[in-house]
Amino acid sequence: MPKLFDPIRIRDLEVPNRVWMSPMCTYTAAPQQGLAGRPVDFHYSHYTNRAAGGVGLVMVEATGVLPEGRISPYDLGLWEDGQIDDFTRLAAGIRANGAVAGIQLAHAGRKASVDRPWQGGAPLDESQHGWAPVAPSALAFPGYPVPRELTRAQIAATVAAFADAALRADAAGFDVIEIHAAHGYLLHSFLSPISNQRTDEYGGALQNRARIVLEVIDAVRAVWPVDKPVFLRVSTTDWVQENPGDDRDSWTLEQSVQLATWAAEHGVDLIDASSGGLDVVPIPRDRDYQTRKAAVVRSESGVPTAAVGRIEDPAFAEELVVSGGVDAVFVGRALLRNPSWANDAALELGASPRFIEQYAYTL
Ligand SMILES: Cc1cc2nc3c(=O)[nH]c(=O)nc-3n(C[C@H](O)[C@H](O)[C@H](O)COP(=O)(O)O)c2cc1C
Repeated sequence: MPKLFDPIRIRDLEVPNRVWMSPMCTYTAAPQQGLAGRPVDFHYSHYTNRAAGGVGLVMVEATGVLPEGRISPYDLGLWEDGQIDDFTRLAAGIRANGAVAGIQLAHAGRKASVDRPWQGGAPLDESQHGWAPVAPSALAFPGYPVPRELTRAQIAATVAAFADAALRADAAGFDVIEIHAAHGYLLHSFLSPISNQRTDEYGGALQNRARIVLEVIDAVRAVWPVDKPVFLRVSTTDWVQENPGDDRDSWTLEQSVQLATWAAEHGVDLIDASSGGLDVVPIPRDRDYQTRKAAVVRSESGVPTAAVGRIEDPAFAEELVVSGGVDAVFVGRALLRNPSWANDAALELGASPRFIEQYAYTL
């Protein structure tokens, strides 16, 4: 039996296998007041098809904890109670198709308020359903407008918004929350000294830059059921330290290991180890560019960790959980191309695909 298709238990949750759908924005919510943030039929078919296609867990895309925390006006959101019902249908559909339902809670920070990628992805102003982005410091992401620096009161309100969204996700029936602290969005931009030059208790030393992340974890854990897991997605590096000649103080693998340790102490059950997104820098293209960093986080912190990035070959995915030092894998683009990637991998590796009875006549 391949290990990839072995169940894994996290707190009281049994996840049926270790191939998980990585959170991926679909930019398909309607931006208008009253509809904004809500899943529509497209989201339902998109996610339930990947569930039926055999993944153990579906992580629903970045979902804004505040309207200004969306990446684009077309993102999902859980900033008000009226949004709960459509997520209830979505979570139930994912579960009915055999997968665990997870949702990524996010705030896009200084990279918020942009158009859909296929429409150019440019920053949007208020006449285009856009808004003024916020950040730890008034420092722009390359090519984006200068964000407004958050006050301490606004930081506290943002932390509370993560907890409120977690309560709504619980009411909607999700079993896993992933806090998005990667890819240059708000929480990552506090972690990295490139984007955080605050002089108060949220800037400077590593403990200070990590403060908001640990506060979000505490706030979420205070309302999220004790039997349900919390994941944390991090960028394990800004890819600055690895870039010869770039000697800026940045977010590094060593700091990620420390953050993983602290996060686990605060109630995080699994690190989802991504990378980059904070600045425009070269990123290696080899197949294990990111998964090898995940293995370092796992071995040095001892915290369960999932790898992600360029996992497209079932044999590679199996190798990662058998000897690659991680507990599970998130698959992204390969699942956009093929909703049944996990079932195909099960067949290739000698495990039983989900809904084998229904699909067996095609084998
Ligand atoms: C269209 C698209 C949307 C994405 N949206 C998110 C997102 O909402 N949250 C997130 O953490 N990562 C997001 N990502 C990153 C993926 O989750 C994943 O980490 C990345 O694509 C690398 O994995 P892959 O090589 O298997 O695609 C997105 C990627 C793509 C291609």
